[in-house]
Amino acid sequence: MLSIRDMSSKVSSIVLKGLKKASSVPILGVVFRPYPWYIEHMARNLKKPTDSFMGKYAMKWMVQKNSFLEKNAVKLCNIEPNHTVLEIGFGPGVGLSHAYNIVKGGKGKIYGIDSSWFALDMAEHNFHDQIFEETKMFVFQANVESIPLNTNTVDRVFHCNCYYFWPSMRKAMREIYRVMRPGSLMITTLDIKHLEKVKRKGFLKYGYTDPMKYMSCLENYGFENVRMEYKTDADTGQDFQVIFAEVLEKPDLSSLPEEEDDEETKKLKMMIAIEKKYGLLAEEDEINLKKFIEKQREEQLQAEEYDKKMNKR
Ligand SMILES: C[S@@+](CC[C@H](N)C(=O)[O-])C[C@H]1O[C@@H](n2cnc3c(N)ncnc32)[C@H](O)[C@@H]1O
Repeated sequence: MLSIRDMSSKVSSIVLKGLKKASSVPILGVVFRPYPWYIEHMARNLKKPTDSFMGKYAMKWMVQKNSFLEKNAVKLCNIEPNHTVLEIGFGPGVGLSHAYNIVKGGKGKIYGIDSSWFALDMAEHNFHDQIFEETKMFVFQANVESIPLNTNTVDRVFHCNCYYFWPSMRKAMREIYRVMRPGSLMITTLDIKHLEKVKRKGFLKYGYTDPMKYMSCLENYGFENVRMEYKTDADTGQDFQVIFAEVLEKPDLSSLPEEEDDEETKKLKMMIAIEKKYGLLAEEDEINLKKFIEKQREEQLQAEEYDKKMNKR
């Protein structure tokens, strides 16, 4: 006997096969082209899954195609039970689940960020106990460019099929580097052969997959021992690639004036130090950033003054 869930997934795959075959369907005098429609909606939902028919289909597709990458990313991270772990772009949550199984006996925590509200809702539903009862897992709707975690707090970061969609590699690198502790490791798994196939179909029209560019950005923004290795999944025999990136020592910030900085200012200062270290910062940029920090500080002081006045009333 087929369950309702199995039946609905069979029906959706038959409908989609039909859509792919029919090149154009006239409906009430309007010509509907199902295949380009299908490609467009898959491309959008791979970048940011939505709570829609195609969003749900894309999530199932990810579980089917990418679970082995998620499993191997977690394995290659060498997570220890006391580690703080972050997954970027968790999608249907397969990686979160593997990582949780490692830290559940220890003091470690799993953090997940994804820019999709639908992914967040799914994770909150699927990991209800881990999030709300055990408080071992924390999931956020957030962009990689603004990770809601403190500086130097994460031991392991992993992501699969996600960097393709980052709006600015520079901002993403800076932010990941900020949250990673000295001595931490980031793992990225991908299947280059499969990527080429889905790219040809148009599924990645909203992404940029070049792993070499990604690796050179990692190096430029302070990550060390950046390398790619070729691996085979022990269970399925599928080949895949893994990119390692480590954060060893961080630049010394002691030369900077000591102040009680807010998180935003800390991030900017860290950015100046990193970019200076790697010779990436033009003099003009540095002056602008410093001005920006000063302006922020002034605004903060004005806000504090205002609060004080209001409290006196
Ligand atoms: C193709 S899916 C991959 C999901 C899962 N990691 C996998 O391999 O099956 C990409 C995921 O990254 C998320 N994502 C895309 N851009 C992002 C960004 N800038 N910051 C955080 N998450 C992002 C999307 O919402 C989506 O869930």
